[in-house]
Amino acid sequence: MYQPHVNQIKIHKSKAKNRVVVAGRRFGKSALALNEAIARAVQVPRQVIWIVLPLYRQAKEIYWIDPDITKYFMPLVHAGAAKADKSELSIHVHKTNSWIRLKGSDNYDSLRGSGLDLIIWDEVADVKQEAFDTIEPALADSPNHKQLYIGTPKGLNWFHDFALKGDHDGVITKFNKPIKPHKDWQTWHFTSYDNKAWKEGSRERTTFVEYIDERRDEAKEKGKLAFFNQEYMASFEESAGRFFPQWFYKTHAYEGSIIPKKDFKVFESIDWGRSAPSAWHAHVISSEEVEIDSDIVKFNRIFTFAEIYNPMKSPHFLTEQIIEKRKAFGYSEPEKILVDPSMFNALSDGSQSIKDQMNEAFEELIGHKQLFETGTRNRKTRWATMDNWMRVAVDGVPYWLITTDCPNLARTIPLMKPKDTDLEDHAVDGVSYFLPVVKWLDSKAGTVSRPRPQVTPPQHVNMLSPDKFVV
Ligand SMILES: Nc1ncnc2c1ncn2[C@@H]1O[C@H](COP(=O)(O)OP(=O)(O)OP(=O)(O)O)[C@@H](O)[C@H]1O
Ligand SMILES: [Mg+2]
Repeated sequence: MYQPHVNQIKIHKSKAKNRVVVAGRRFGKSALALNEAIARAVQVPRQVIWIVLPLYRQAKEIYWIDPDITKYFMPLVHAGAAKADKSELSIHVHKTNSWIRLKGSDNYDSLRGSGLDLIIWDEVADVKQEAFDTIEPALADSPNHKQLYIGTPKGLNWFHDFALKGDHDGVITKFNKPIKPHKDWQTWHFTSYDNKAWKEGSRERTTFVEYIDERRDEAKEKGKLAFFNQEYMASFEESAGRFFPQWFYKTHAYEGSIIPKKDFKVFESIDWGRSAPSAWHAHVISSEEVEIDSDIVKFNRIFTFAEIYNPMKSPHFLTEQIIEKRKAFGYSEPEKILVDPSMFNALSDGSQSIKDQMNEAFEELIGHKQLFETGTRNRKTRWATMDNWMRVAVDGVPYWLITTDCPNLARTIPLMKPKDTDLEDHAVDGVSYFLPVVKWLDSKAGTVSRPRPQVTPPQHVNMLSPDKFVV
């Protein structure tokens, strides 16, 4: 039925607890995923195996309807060895009493359970972050589970992080992320050309290679090579279709923590979410003075240095966490807190606004209220301001830097796209309520307003000299 090709075999054979397959379109990812599940269900008694796709609809279309894929389990069903249940998308293997269940990450409630043996994520780069959080308790109840993450890259999101965890040979570009390979993880990287299902020289192989070559030529003509490289060469590309193309991990993220000294003004920003994550950030503004051709140029630079990023049980809970973070970062209170305007609205059930509830909590916990201000409602303006702060100042360092303590902000900036409305935008939105309130001073009006794509790496060491910050 299924004869894995040489590159699929490498993955099936591995005993790693967490396997990560970074592969281009048409590599044979879904065939690999399903057959890994089938082999286990047929060979090992009482297994519970999940295959999770980003959307429930996709689980159905790819695994239940596409004949290229269904051909792998239908023979078992026809022979009476297994039962396939269409309404719950499950396959039960009678001899072993093992189950394969298909899930959609959009259907959070279906991601609860226990006693899982194997979880396979297909198209994992598109899975919603919330799905990983929802499945967490089920994994905790399944001490011996294994996971297989399969996908084609999509910017530098969590899939990139997973890939780095298993990248013992350094084949995945790191983009300066401080992630070290872990012994329980193993990563493979394959391009679309690495689908070796057909013999070299066969008609199928030739057609297949020609098809991908055509996609490459097409992409080149349209100036979309980055997109081809992402989809078919399975490379992690920073700029394919982004809203903030000038933000780069290498230059805009600062690898280290900072603790602002007492005389620095701290600001905070919040985008409230109860089921989606709430995003809280702390920022410090530093007045920079740089000597250029014996002129002193002055400008402001922002460091975003602390983050809370979680769905919040209550405004009280968020307040507690904020107070803890302030302690950890050595300051007691911000100048003010810039927030999503809807946090000022009374709730639909008539209860107090989130802001008022938080202030009540502040009063209870630290004895007084905080100064909250609303950011502008106009997201277009906020994001445009943000884009402006990403520019590079005359000293070769961006006007706005994000430290290592704000991983979710750094992770999601490259995910933002111009038109898509279904984005993980909580961190970006939260910060965008704050940035417009800081006075913008161009470090050299006119000349650096359009940074070249290649910017000099920041000299963080000088910039964060101890007389400025405690590092
Ligand atoms: N071991 C194999 N033997 C024969 N054909 C295979 C094998 N693996 C994959 N294929 C074929 O290659 C094609 C692509 O397979 P599959 O759909 O699994 O790839 P994919 O990487 O999931 O693609 P996509 O990126 O479109 O999701 C299909 O026609 C599939 O039948
Ligand atoms: Mg697929």
